[in-house]
Amino acid sequence: MLKLGVNIDHVATLRQVRKAVFPDPLEAALICQKAGAHGITAHLREDRRHIQDCDMKRLAAKVRRLNMEMAVTDEMVRIATKLKPVNCCLVPEKRQELTTEGGLDVIGSFGKIRSAVKKLQRAGIKVSLFIDPDKDQVEASRESGAEFIELHTGAYADSSGRRALSELKRLVAAAVFAHKIGVNVNAGHGINYDNIRGILDIPHLHELNIGHSIVSRAVIAGMSDAVSEMLELMGKYRN
Ligand code: PXP
Repeated sequence: MLKLGVNIDHVATLRQVRKAVFPDPLEAALICQKAGAHGITAHLREDRRHIQDCDMKRLAAKVRRLNMEMAVTDEMVRIATKLKPVNCCLVPEKRQELTTEGGLDVIGSFGKIRSAVKKLQRAGIKVSLFIDPDKDQVEASRESGAEFIELHTGAYADSSGRRALSELKRLVAAAVFAHKIGVNVNAGHGINYDNIRGILDIPHLHELNIGHSIVSRAVIAGMSDAVSEMLELMGKYRN
């Protein structure tokens, strides 16, 4: 069965634009779990633009299966080995980017990545490497000892027509190769309620990590109830 990991970062984004206490990513995570999500993903970015350290701590304590997304830095490895989420997904991180733009260069940073993988695994965490659908990166990921790769679906998600088809072919080829050499395959980035159809053609998938489209759909789907609830409270006005 294909599993769903819901990335709740953008619940925290909405909170941080007001530096308020709501919406609470933990509350959202528990609703996702209750609705059937198999896991919760949260990215503690170095600039703390959405998820904060205290969010990660609360999520690690309360969520059934937390996947901590993180850059390959000593600080993040230290935090993860202390919090012990079930999974960690190592991603490249640039301060100026709007979101994770490309996959990890596992070949170029092999020593650093392999050392982080080992430290996390020694803490009992299963590790995934977020990579572009490239055979050499898949091979290097296996050599690093990581149990999983997460294929970056952004190039497919951001394209259409023939380009989308060729990006999908790259994803299929990378998944087939990973399976052949014994690496478990997850996928994520930019997956939404339309492009999911193509994603389902990728073989050997274990889990999809989806964030922005689900949080966006929740905002729209919940808008009617949110307005009704406020109107009901205002209905008590007697002046
Ligand atoms: N997987 C990884 C490794 C990511 O960095 C992100 C974005 O934080 C996602 C999945 C989810 O992407 P989206 O929010 O576009 O669904």
